[in-house]
Amino acid sequence: MDIEVYGDAFTLKLAGRSMTFLFSPPAIQHFFSAPDAEIAFRPAIQPFTQRVFGLPSDRFFPKHSAMLAALRGLLAPDSLRSRLQPVAAAMQKRLHALWGDCGEVGLLEAVKEVLFAPTVQALFGAEFCSRHGPAALADAFFKFESGFELAASPLPHILQRSFSASRARLLASFRASLAAGDFEGELIGDLIRQSEIEADLAPNAMLAVLWAALSNSVPAAFWSTAFLLLPQHCSHLDAVLKTLPPALPAGATSAETCEYLESLVQVALDRRGPLAATVAEAVRLRSPGVDLRMAACDTCMPMDDGRQLSIKKACNLSQRCIRITQSGQLLAVSPYESHLDERLFGSRAFDYNPCRGDLAAVTGVAGIGGVAGFAFGGGRYRCPGRFFAEAEIALVVALLLSRYSLTLSTRAQETGRRALAEE
Ligand code: HEM
Repeated sequence: MDIEVYGDAFTLKLAGRSMTFLFSPPAIQHFFSAPDAEIAFRPAIQPFTQRVFGLPSDRFFPKHSAMLAALRGLLAPDSLRSRLQPVAAAMQKRLHALWGDCGEVGLLEAVKEVLFAPTVQALFGAEFCSRHGPAALADAFFKFESGFELAASPLPHILQRSFSASRARLLASFRASLAAGDFEGELIGDLIRQSEIEADLAPNAMLAVLWAALSNSVPAAFWSTAFLLLPQHCSHLDAVLKTLPPALPAGATSAETCEYLESLVQVALDRRGPLAATVAEAVRLRSPGVDLRMAACDTCMPMDDGRQLSIKKACNLSQRCIRITQSGQLLAVSPYESHLDERLFGSRAFDYNPCRGDLAAVTGVAGIGGVAGFAFGGGRYRCPGRFFAEAEIALVVALLLSRYSLTLSTRAQETGRRALAEE
């Protein structure tokens, strides 16, 4: 692996692929706003859609714009209140089953448990969930998810048994539920119908939506909670706690429970409140992955210092590399790294500060805005689930904080307590 450094950009040659990372704010702006004829989305994500989800490019991409538009419409902010109310009720049930009134659990496990089934239910419907069982679906999903990156590589899937088996289980579940009509009247059924995805591709498209909806939301909910619980962030925690309804009394009536859940949804949907700010700040600081595009022609990226970075469509590596990357040079933006850039987020960009103010530079970048920066991508292809995701993550945090008095324990404390208990 060799790295060439050009200040605000570098090219990484990895496993026969050449990937140019861009960090200069004007280059990031151009990356998200240039037309597809210059910087293209489709060939960059093709290895994922084709190899990982099994969606043949020539059949899936003609429907892609319609699918994006349909999902944006189905998850538009004004639809979220009604979508989130059943999610809140399902989350509360799971939380109670998992934790009861007290105890010690792994935060990541708790977040997975609270988020997975209610999200699947909200997007795919209760029939799908109960037919296949939330635990079996979660088991298959998290195995599929952990093999995701490797599955996009040229390594044959026959050598990736856990990934292949979990994918087959998820696809079989989608097929069985399609045949049984479980998706009628559910968001996913509407999405497939509105985007005119052909019947044989529907299970694979559903798999893509399932992955997109959960793979980033789980770590984002984990970090949103964990940051708030750190002792040095207690003032932010207090600000959030003040916005939450009082915990439900034991033996609350169903009307009281309904009212309580409705208030939690209202707090989660308040994009100007302290809870939304803490979620956005956690997402900014812990954005996973990279945003990818591909050079569709020879082009130039504007840099901060006024120079232009020349990008060639075909990379001039070895003969073999040209063959592999013949459709263009891969371009990448790293939200994780760029979100620590003081040119975008002001001084002490690496600090957790949900009250950070001066974001003028960020809001000037095409299609992105606010504290979360470009964790949700940007431009035409920005995440269609963003508003749903942010509200749902806020809901997890609100439920956890309003129901329990939480403290983080270190592994050493946990081991110490176990040892005492065993004595
Ligand atoms: C914290 C949670 C989430 C994060 C950080 C996130 C981030 C992203 C990013 C970076 C992209 C690529 C955008 C680009 O290349 O410009 C994307 C695409 C996508 N996201 Fe999200 N996402 C989240 C949650 C969700 C949820 C909850 C849903 C669905 C309900 C969803 C549905 C999608 C879909 C379907 C795409 C693919 C769009 C396409 O093919 O063009 N995401 N997301």
